[in-house]
Amino acid sequence: MKNINQFLSYKQENKKISMLTCYDYSFAKAVSDTNIDCLLVGDSLAMVMHGFDSTIHATPELMMIHTAAVKRGAPNKFIVADMPFLSFRKGLSFALDVAKDLMCAGANAVKIEGVDGHEDVISGLVETGIPVMGHLGLTPQSVHQLSGYRVQGKDEKRAEEIKREAQKLQKLGCFSLVLECVPTKLASDITKNLIIPTIGIGAGAEVDGQVLVLQDMLGLNTDFKPKFVRQFQNINEASQTAFNKYDAAVKSLEFPLAEESF
Ligand code: KIV
Repeated sequence: MKNINQFLSYKQENKKISMLTCYDYSFAKAVSDTNIDCLLVGDSLAMVMHGFDSTIHATPELMMIHTAAVKRGAPNKFIVADMPFLSFRKGLSFALDVAKDLMCAGANAVKIEGVDGHEDVISGLVETGIPVMGHLGLTPQSVHQLSGYRVQGKDEKRAEEIKREAQKLQKLGCFSLVLECVPTKLASDITKNLIIPTIGIGAGAEVDGQVLVLQDMLGLNTDFKPKFVRQFQNINEASQTAFNKYDAAVKSLEFPLAEESF
């Protein structure tokens, strides 16, 4: 299993970090035998796995159940689990309880969106020995404050704000941070000015690693095709072909055969 020191070395050696979201046992098993460096049990599971319209619906219990399933499928991978909506805004004691449950479920680190107003929680978790990954730019838990899922930091004021937040996260002890939906130049400037690695999603190529939602890159999320998602395979189409073949085989009495029966 990789660790946070190795991710730091990757940056120093100019080697990229690959990260994928993963929410369930069967995909975790599939990813387990690949070269992917680390897995993110993202709160996007509320949307991808449960059909909600935002990540606000992810609860600590849901995050714990999915983290445990991913750990069982990929015990050899470094797993980051999202601290869900508001779980880091109720003080350190509450955040510690949630982080404890996620770590006991199998996470090796937690990810927290934003920084202003919960600095004490971030540094408190780090001091306790829990690695924390930051998340800046488009922070989906604040979707209503940001007026939708839009690129962040296009204007100078917001760009400066994100740069300041990134420096703050490093100072608070984060081992890495996700930059979501920010212009390439901004992500590049932040990356060059940090010691800790940046992981981009919709942040261009000049970051230290990339993360994609597994279902998006496999073409399983047919309603969501933003510019930054590359479809590396179309599993949706392949699955539908298989489903129709099965349906036809059942209806034509071609399935099951004698050798598929007892
Ligand atoms: O929840 C998630 O999937 C994420 C990634 C988009 C970085 O936070």
